Amino acid sequence: MSLLSLVSKNGPSGFGYATTAEAVTEGLDLTGRHVLITGSNSGLGLEAARVLIQRGATVIGTARTVEKAREALAPLGGKTLPIALELGEPDSVRASVAAVRALGVPIDALIANAGIMALPNLEKLHGYEKQFFTNHVGHFLFVTGLLNQLAANGRVVILSSGAHKNAPAAGIELDNLSGERNYGAWKTYGQSKLANLLFARELSRRFAGTGKLANAVHPGVIATNLGRHMSSFERSTLLTVGPLFLKSVGEGAATEVWAAVHPGAALITGQYLQNCNVKESSALGKDMALAAKLWAATEEIVAKVGGAA
Ligand SMILES: NC(=O)c1ccc[n+]([C@@H]2O[C@H](COP(=O)([O-])OP(=O)(O)OC[C@H]3O[C@@H](n4cnc5c(N)ncnc54)[C@H](OP(=O)(O)O)[C@@H]3O)[C@@H](O)[C@H]2O)c1
Repeated sequence: MSLLSLVSKNGPSGFGYATTAEAVTEGLDLTGRHVLITGSNSGLGLEAARVLIQRGATVIGTARTVEKAREALAPLGGKTLPIALELGEPDSVRASVAAVRALGVPIDALIANAGIMALPNLEKLHGYEKQFFTNHVGHFLFVTGLLNQLAANGRVVILSSGAHKNAPAAGIELDNLSGERNYGAWKTYGQSKLANLLFARELSRRFAGTGKLANAVHPGVIATNLGRHMSSFERSTLLTVGPLFLKSVGEGAATEVWAAVHPGAALITGQYLQNCNVKESSALGKDMALAAKLWAATEEIVAKVGGAA
């Protein structure tokens, strides 16, 4: 437990920094609910799956291959439905959408949790910078493909990050989505996480009047496999100062789980959430004109890269 976990106070929701996914779901009976989690084989996604299953939910869990999803979910017991999803491949995303639709169940919550962080050198997918494509475009294609499958009061939860504040000055460099101009590992990760936040805000705006919700989450800073691309210097610095603020995986998964299933979050939409409460984002994270431009640009990208239906 970090120093901050020990001294932090809970916010208006009654939960806070040190709340775990187990604590936030205590007393909830989620029997009959279907929660879809991308990246359910590792880190926060795996912990969210574990706790939601413990509370009776059926978890539709994705990993890059169905075998990987099955291997991760089987030891959790309960009701699980493993699905393959490779966010970097539009064909895989569309196949995954079809596989989820074929299950024929309403999705009560969709947690777009999978992600990659801080690739040291520019890598591209289909001509676009890889973090932007994986974290944002892949999830945009996946989530928008499943909107008809969302339950009447369905909730979409998109994992963003406090790192959205590291995005470039323009927020989303719509004229540099290849990343070829001024690539920076953290800046470009920040851009992808700002895109996640703006996607949630714009989706919420489009949901108005439907009863459906969309929110973005900063989970905190947690030592997971996400740090695999960090340099050894970055990693050792994080582990040195970590005891001050690093969350446990249980604490890290709490906000996404709260947003997905807690009755206290049933009226919250279009927000940036942290520590199981609404939190201010950067100004760019509230820029709805930018959110609309990003949505239009992403639709164009999706149309261009295709992926058989
Ligand atoms: N940990 C933190 O401190 C932190 C802070 C802020 C935000 N977040 C966000 O929280 C989310 C979860 O991160 P985590 O810490 O749990 O990281 P993690 O342990 O590395 O889990 C990430 C998950 O995403 C999957 N994934 C990566 N690339 C993918 C792709 N191309 N297609 C499909 N799935 C892919 C991974 O699959 P593989 O295992 O096969 O690679 C894994 O299941 C991310 O969106 C991250 O940006 C985390």
